[in-house]
Amino acid sequence: MTNNPFQITARQILPSILSADFGKLGPEICEVLDGGADFLHLDVMDGHFVPNISFGPPVIAAVRKATRAYLDAHLMIAEPLRYAPAMVKAGAQNVTFHVEAVSDPAAAAREIRKLGCNVGITLNPATPVERLWPAIDLVDVVLVMSVVPGFSGQKFMPEVLPKVRAVKKRLRADQRVEIDGGINPDTIGLAAEAGADWFVVASAIFDRPDRAAAIRELRAALSR
Ligand code: DX5
Ligand code: ZN
Repeated sequence: MTNNPFQITARQILPSILSADFGKLGPEICEVLDGGADFLHLDVMDGHFVPNISFGPPVIAAVRKATRAYLDAHLMIAEPLRYAPAMVKAGAQNVTFHVEAVSDPAAAAREIRKLGCNVGITLNPATPVERLWPAIDLVDVVLVMSVVPGFSGQKFMPEVLPKVRAVKKRLRADQRVEIDGGINPDTIGLAAEAGADWFVVASAIFDRPDRAAAIRELRAALSR
């Protein structure tokens, strides 16, 4: 149905709609995708796992209607297994859960896989990378958080870069490393150098009046 980013090895830029204008979400999405972004990152927050509430399945379904682009859902929620089916039904193609939110990450990855979607695992900056190892072979993507999740517009934490390196070393060629938080033209190169493949960007794209120019600047920084 849509582009499968796992067939592409080139680095991918994923706008997070968290910083978009929700009053005109359709046009906002078209602007970033026409402006050179690869696919979309959807930040789902429940006010429990993180101290903020964003959106859930109805908004994912609206995004699904607005684009054929691949949809990457990042569940910052306390009960990812309870809600993953609704996210997939709404149109999410990758479902990423937080390792801190589950008791058995390998079982969680297997359960989400049964929904027919891709599977991602992620961890907060304070969580040791070793917590991922029981599930590492069972996921398609590992998302390394480079801010404390909850809000866009925070400062990149370079101290997570060793985690990106450690994860990259353990992944197969068909798996990807994603980084999320504080990515802008000054930080994207550091993340790329450490091994990140997918770059989530909210404020450094949506807070700019010219989103295509913002994406061009990110790509230029990647090729430096
Ligand atoms: C953080 C979210 C991020 C966030 C990134 O809680 O998971 O996806 O929107 O925002 P920026 O790019 O502004 O740091
Ligand atoms: Zn995110």
